[in-house]
Amino acid sequence: MRYLIAGNWKMNGSTASARDLAAAIAAQHAGAKADVVLCPPAPLLAAVGATLAGSTIRLGAQDCHFNEKGAHTGDISAWLLLDLGCTHVIVGHSERRADHGETDGQVKAKATAAMKAGLIPIVCVGETEAQREKGETAAVIARQVRGSLPDGASPETVVIAYEPVWAIGTGKTATTADIAAVHGQIQQLCGPKPPRILYGGSVKGSNAAAILATPGVSGALVGGASLDAADFWRIVEACPPVSA
Ligand code: 13P
Repeated sequence: MRYLIAGNWKMNGSTASARDLAAAIAAQHAGAKADVVLCPPAPLLAAVGATLAGSTIRLGAQDCHFNEKGAHTGDISAWLLLDLGCTHVIVGHSERRADHGETDGQVKAKATAAMKAGLIPIVCVGETEAQREKGETAAVIARQVRGSLPDGASPETVVIAYEPVWAIGTGKTATTADIAAVHGQIQQLCGPKPPRILYGGSVKGSNAAAILATPGVSGALVGGASLDAADFWRIVEACPPVSA
């Protein structure tokens, strides 16, 4: 399977700046070495989707609700995201787990709803610095993977992202040995046909080649560097060739 590079724009940008960034990224889509998804803030999905029309770059959201519709003020359903042109949705990002108290059970319900709607959920897992220092990384990852993945997850329907919380937005990245260990563990937890597993946490053009060449890594979930079209493309270009 091809690598997947997803840009998580988080809570950044305006309609005008998002259009400019999407256009600058889409301008280079021809012959991309990986699948590319951009995840702008929800109010900018329509504008970014319109800008990406005609390119191979896909649209993703940063969260969804687990119900199809109803009395859930401020929430957005996976079906509405599909209607807006999304193909992917991030669920269980550590910032949502921390800021909104999202549990593994809620993340699983969101991922399940995304799959039912026909979207590919990008299910995020990752340990905090305190958990890593206490030697709890493997236990935390096992609990999150078992608790957050939808039933029947397959490489075609789900993507997993391993994002150590302490590496997000800090400039610190896990060593390639640490990344290989956790990705290997997640693959084992998923059985014989594991989904693609992205690494996230301070990925940028200058460190992408080493990270993407690490065993078990099949792409990246990129925060800060995805707001710079040139650096984002350096990451896409760093993807190793994939044999069919
Ligand atoms: P940074 O690339 O800014 O560290 O963010 C990673 C992330 O959280 C992507 O979802």
